[in-house]
Amino acid sequence: MYRTHHCNALRAADIDEQATLSGWVHSRRDHGGVIFIDLRDREGLTQVVFRPEENAGVASQAHHLRDEDVIQVSGRVAPRLPGTENPKLATGAIELVPSSLTILNRAEVLPFPLDGEVNEDLRLAYRYFDLRRPQLARNLRLRHRITKATRDYLDGAGFIEIETPILSKSTPEGARDFLVPSRLMPGKFYALPQAPQQYKQLLMVGGIEKYFQIAKCFRDEDLRADRQPEFTQIDIEASFVRPNDIYALTEGMLASIFKAARGLDIPTPFPRLTYREAVGTFGSDKPDRRFGMQLVDFTEEFRASGFKLFRGVIESGGVVKAINAKGFAGITIGQVDEMTAIAKNFGAKGLAFIKIENGEWKSPIVKFFSEAERSALQTKLALEEGDLIFFGSDKWDIACEVLGRLRLRVAEIQGLTKNSEQLDFLWVTGFPLLQFDAAENKWNAVHHPFTRPKAEDLPLLDVQRYGEMRAEAYDVVLNGVEVGGGSIRIHEPELQAKMFAVLGVSEEDQQIMFGHLLRAFRLGAPPHGGIALGLDRLVMLICGEQSIRDVMAFPKNNRGQDLMSQSPADVDPKQLRELGITLAKKTP
Ligand code: AMO
Ligand code: AMP
Repeated sequence: MYRTHHCNALRAADIDEQATLSGWVHSRRDHGGVIFIDLRDREGLTQVVFRPEENAGVASQAHHLRDEDVIQVSGRVAPRLPGTENPKLATGAIELVPSSLTILNRAEVLPFPLDGEVNEDLRLAYRYFDLRRPQLARNLRLRHRITKATRDYLDGAGFIEIETPILSKSTPEGARDFLVPSRLMPGKFYALPQAPQQYKQLLMVGGIEKYFQIAKCFRDEDLRADRQPEFTQIDIEASFVRPNDIYALTEGMLASIFKAARGLDIPTPFPRLTYREAVGTFGSDKPDRRFGMQLVDFTEEFRASGFKLFRGVIESGGVVKAINAKGFAGITIGQVDEMTAIAKNFGAKGLAFIKIENGEWKSPIVKFFSEAERSALQTKLALEEGDLIFFGSDKWDIACEVLGRLRLRVAEIQGLTKNSEQLDFLWVTGFPLLQFDAAENKWNAVHHPFTRPKAEDLPLLDVQRYGEMRAEAYDVVLNGVEVGGGSIRIHEPELQAKMFAVLGVSEEDQQIMFGHLLRAFRLGAPPHGGIALGLDRLVMLICGEQSIRDVMAFPKNNRGQDLMSQSPADVDPKQLRELGITLAKKTP
């Protein structure tokens, strides 16, 4: 038997009992021949003390122990000497006085200390070691709690978990596919699923009615802190549902997840904002509302302004919007450059701002403003000494996005985005259905091509006013992170074919790419809809982490590499020959 107790079990009540523990040497301290070991397993720490006068043989063995050696100790549970108890440790009242010590395995020189700041690439290269950090272990346990609560909740609501293929066919979700060559059919490729979207809809045609899956998804896209090439969705689909059914189900599920993982009761239902409201007020379709700094519209006030720049933009159909960056008048030159770069990056031609300092409005543009314009700014932005106004004057979407980005950056600098205790959930609804891609001169689906247009906007389809059509689609947002998105789907073959046509998919290509779906819709497809939540993002927020890499056991770095196993990697030429693949010469 390796152990009678784990390392977070022994208490004062166990004093004088015999116990056997196994684990890792967390730390070793030598107090003039007396050796103290903190023994660690996944549950916690227990102090083990080796005194030469009590057991010289075992104590001399303990002299040779190094951090992260794996050992087994058996002995007597003893009270710690008065004054040396550690109230911060659950086992802090006792220590183990061993009569035997077995070294189960040794650890060589460690790649890095487990308790310090370490370069992430190095951590990822030794991920199996890095996972011994209590923080990562805690995150993985919390992740397990969350998937368990998810399964329990959905099971209780009548949903059944069904696995869908990983070797599948390309389904558009807006990213590139990962392709897998077929050996049995040379020259053909599977695509790894970007989401189980078509399969789950086909399950609805199959009469399953309520499906879910903790589903692996694969997307070849540029990586960021909240994006991995391989990630997990809580994927849900149901038949005979309206958006309200999906909202209630998702809210109930999130409430039960937060209860299980954090013991919190989150208030439901979540507030809802339309896309226009979210973008118009917060400059983002995933607004973080834990802080104010809302976008305020001044288009009417500046319509006849003496400031030509604003008047000109308004005359050509644009808007003037502003935010009050409270207490930001002390902005440094470096910050001005950074903010200007952000504005330009998101399409602005420049960045106008006014500092309110020593009772004065400081900016070269103030002289063009009338008394009425100043007083409108003063009142609607509730200006005070030390504030700073940023202006966005452009087409509506550019002005909103620019101010939204500035709002977020200012909030970050002011530390307003750090509080992970405050939970701001909301739904964003009424997304645009289609977006015009000027570079490719074609319409793209904002969500995906299976999303249903809002019933009242359907007539716009026939008159080709695509840009004005809204989707029966929704996102759930937590603290400025899009944690999930979904929609009610098209279930009629004619409407689906029409949508493909709008998206520029020829009839021939429709048959090749989506023939199975169109045929399925002709055999009695029920009305259906669903949602998918990014499990990694959700766990990240619940753990209070900044990156989804910290809630995944073996993540990739931002170049898509697994630094531990060194993948992606070269393959044996024989494997390539079997697949009928020859590599083009590398261009230098
Ligand atoms: P969508 O593409 O919005 O919808 O994805 C749903 C959720 O998945 C998460 N997510 C990601 N998480 C980590 N890394 C990524 N690369 C990544 N990409 C997406 C996000 C997102 O909100 N089939 C539809 C859902 C549906 O319509 O039911 C879909 O996949 O949290
Ligand atoms: P200008 O008259 O071009 O010198 O611009 C006056 C101020 O307005 C400068 O601070 C510019 O950076 C800023 N500015 C220029 N274009 C825009 C715009 N579209 N929206 C907001 N500010 C702008």
